[in-house]
Amino acid sequence: MSVLVLIPLWALMAATHTQVWSADSCTCEITNLEQMFPHDKLSSAERDAARCNGDVTKQKATELDSLMLGLEIRLPQLLADLRMLEQEDDGELYGALSLQVIENELTELTMLINKLNVVTERHRGLVTQSNQQLQDLQAEMKQMEIYDTMQVVKRQQTNQRLKRDLAQCRTSEDHPTTMPTQPAHGVCPHGQFVNVTRPRVYTAGEYPGSYKYGAWGRDPKPAAGKESWYWMVMLTSGNKYGHYVRQYSTLSALIVGVSVPGNVQISPSNPTTNTIQGPNVVLYGDALYYNCYNKDAVCRFNLTDKTVSAEQLPQGTRFNSKGNFCHLDECYLYTDLDLATDESGVWVMYTSTQDYGNLVLSKVEEGAPPTLSQTWRTSLYKQAATNTFMICGVLYATRFVSKDTEEIFYSFDTATGEERFNVGINIAKMSTNIYSLNYSPADQMLHAYSDAYMVSYKVLFM
Ligand SMILES: *[C@@H]1O[C@H](CO)[C@@H](O)[C@H](O)[C@H]1NC(C)=O
Ligand SMILES: *[C@@H]1O[C@H](CO)[C@@H](O)[C@H](O)[C@H]1NC(C)=O
Repeated sequence: MSVLVLIPLWALMAATHTQVWSADSCTCEITNLEQMFPHDKLSSAERDAARCNGDVTKQKATELDSLMLGLEIRLPQLLADLRMLEQEDDGELYGALSLQVIENELTELTMLINKLNVVTERHRGLVTQSNQQLQDLQAEMKQMEIYDTMQVVKRQQTNQRLKRDLAQCRTSEDHPTTMPTQPAHGVCPHGQFVNVTRPRVYTAGEYPGSYKYGAWGRDPKPAAGKESWYWMVMLTSGNKYGHYVRQYSTLSALIVGVSVPGNVQISPSNPTTNTIQGPNVVLYGDALYYNCYNKDAVCRFNLTDKTVSAEQLPQGTRFNSKGNFCHLDECYLYTDLDLATDESGVWVMYTSTQDYGNLVLSKVEEGAPPTLSQTWRTSLYKQAATNTFMICGVLYATRFVSKDTEEIFYSFDTATGEERFNVGINIAKMSTNIYSLNYSPADQMLHAYSDAYMVSYKVLFM
């Protein structure tokens, strides 16, 4: 793999933001106060970073490759943020980006280098040298950070707030400013789901090859301060059971394997009452939804107060590995219940004896305890599918085509009841079996846990 990493650094302009607001007049004024940012210093730092990166990637260390993959995704995002800010620069509005973001990346890169130091003696000399270069760079970044004195615009969010304020200011007389915060049920804010990209993230994570079954992703409704966090659950006991959640503060931290709170335990022993059974779990609202041990129920583990509450599924629900996802060669053990998230919250897919093994879908409501609000019956035989996920109130199912390809072949729209068996979207696999697959509206990515690898795909809408 050839990896190109840019360390994009940009001009920092501090801005003040004043709003005058009255019923019949409306003025927005934005003034640039700060001195110019030292571009030349930044360019030389960028050159150094590029050189350092060139040296390191020659070694083709897989772990480094993984990190680079992470960076490849994140840095273009930062560049896009910058472009957005530049476009808005109409001579009146200046955006500033915090160097904090870059510094975090460098910190994580340094952590990776430390890890590599342990892994191979052969890399040691090179690594030490790179580490030094990174430290020098970091010191330089810190220095430059003092130019970012105003801290006015913290990346996109604050900038978007400004944009919103401006827009409001311009239109407040004509239009009341009530905006729906949640899309209406069955309406997709992004457009129609049409395809997925090739893998965007591919990593063995913290325990390479150790746990074949598990799940990972991003909480669509994260707790304050956890907006960029990722989570991972592994089945640590007999490929069937798990009893804790691990969280990572960024994608790079997940790839490098540095978990902030460590294990957040449901129970110290495993398996036992209310621990995790099967891989198809999701994190939503800082709580884990899963099939609990030896029960036909959805359990919810609250990561804040560490309590578990449960919702019993209807009589006849198949559980304990009796209603699994399958392909011709194999059924995936303990996949009776598949939890999913989308724009509207949490869903559970399962099957029951009265539905003759066809897939049933219920909306899970967040209350205490969680409840099922509505149920839909499909004509898809569950064993004909390998996995399911939800996007914008539409259920999608996959089937195994070959060791390289999984196909999203089926959809069921909960708004209209329309079923399709000819969706025909292929997923390029990195390993043979995808044991869990879930969509997160937080980043519009499909997160797959596949034979101990974590892989993600960007969902494309039209
Ligand atoms: C979907 O994306 C894949 C990979 O980028 C591409 O090869 C394929 O042609 C796309 N399919 C459609 C229907 O656009
Ligand atoms: C989790 O527990 C905290 C503290 O008791 C509570 O505020 C929060 O609402 C709970 N979350 C869920 C999803 O029940």
